[in-house]
Amino acid sequence: MSPVRNRVAVLHGVNLNMLGRRDPAQYGTLTLLDLERRVTDFGRELELEVHCFQTNSEAEFVKHLHELPARADGILLNPGAWTHYSWAIHDALEIAALPAVEVHLSNIDEREPWRSISVIRDLVLACVSGQGVEGYREALVRLSKELDG
Ligand code: DQA
Repeated sequence: MSPVRNRVAVLHGVNLNMLGRRDPAQYGTLTLLDLERRVTDFGRELELEVHCFQTNSEAEFVKHLHELPARADGILLNPGAWTHYSWAIHDALEIAALPAVEVHLSNIDEREPWRSISVIRDLVLACVSGQGVEGYREALVRLSKELDG
């Protein structure tokens, strides 16, 4: 029997610790802690073990990605503004070589043109954008299907 693959690392990048103080029209009113609790609950419903991490340091984010293969089966990531330009995060995600889904609270395709660029898009199974917190549930469902299969 193959081992259960249910460990999901949820990674939030730069400025996402400021949720609750950022534009509520784009990001809603939940704090990062509220969001992490909701995502952990979504995970529990799907029998996924969710571990959350946030940093404003690109180096820390990269280091965390390097360490993930030892303790996660899949990645759900919202790198914030790094999404749009960090080739370092692209490369670290490639090195991690785990199934990954990208998620954004706001609809990055309907904002400033530079936000519609995602440098990690070629590495992810799917991108869920513009659905607020519910988007995290959809992203976890997508990841869970991949881990089950
Ligand atoms: C974001 C969208 C990014 O463009 C922005 O820089 C963020 C948050 C989102 O969740 O909608 O910080 O990733």
